[in-house]
Amino acid sequence: MSTARTAERALYAVSDLHSAIPANRDLVDGIRPSTDDDWLVVAGDVAEHADEITASLGLLARRFARVVWVPGNHELWSTPGDPVQLRGEARYRQLVELCRELGVLTPEDPYAVWDGPGGPVTVAPLFVLYDYTFRPPGAATQQEALDAAYAAGIVCNDEFVLHPDPYPTRGDWCRARVAYTEGRLAAAADPAKPLLMVNHFPLTRHPTEVLWHPEFAQWCGTELTADWHRRFPTEAVVYGHLHIPRTTWQDGVRFEEVSLGYPRERRDGLRRPIPRRIVPAETADAEQARRVAAR
Ligand SMILES: [Fe+2]
Ligand SMILES: [Fe+2]
Repeated sequence: MSTARTAERALYAVSDLHSAIPANRDLVDGIRPSTDDDWLVVAGDVAEHADEITASLGLLARRFARVVWVPGNHELWSTPGDPVQLRGEARYRQLVELCRELGVLTPEDPYAVWDGPGGPVTVAPLFVLYDYTFRPPGAATQQEALDAAYAAGIVCNDEFVLHPDPYPTRGDWCRARVAYTEGRLAAAADPAKPLLMVNHFPLTRHPTEVLWHPEFAQWCGTELTADWHRRFPTEAVVYGHLHIPRTTWQDGVRFEEVSLGYPRERRDGLRRPIPRRIVPAETADAEQARRVAAR
């Protein structure tokens, strides 16, 4: 970051570092706080192999006062050559343990409260996966949606390497995570400390409507979380996965896609600087928030 170190402390976010790719590794090496008290939220898809994931998170944890991580689909892949050959829930739990050794907060830890500028905000790392309910037009069932994806040649690698064990399906794992997470959010809901919800996958379908291939949306979230930003007092929602960095608004709530993504997606340069400042919001966002609030 080029920000002067005289800046006030802030909470930043980034996702989809895919740090095993050399060009991305260089950009991850360049992520530095502006002050000694900055926090960094890492919204999934750090890498695939456990050693690469912990190397990148460890680097960031040494630089930022606090790092908060949620898993992306790539962390959950079981692939050849990975020293950690666990699948599904066991793989996730192993990653949680590795994060704890680094001092990195996960969706299994108590929610931390950011009490710096723009706060207090309750930082809620979530892991709720997807359940194939973001179906493309014309697909009435999960099978029809999957058939459409195969016909279009747009099938997520998760179908082959993201195993849901011990759950029968990824949808079952998702529904279990939704139930667990709803309880945590309800217990933490406090208008005096609104939530910064962080999930790798978008919590609403809206951000997927600009996907080049609508068949891909079925691997991007669940309708079960569509009203969470209205049900719980929410400062903002941070997500990634789509590799479409942007800020959108729904029901007066700010949604921030904070991905770095793949080198081929930024042939014209970085689409937005990383990491993105979330609390306090970037100036333009704060102005937009005032306009929304005034309506
Ligand atoms: Fe990604
Ligand atoms: Fe992803």
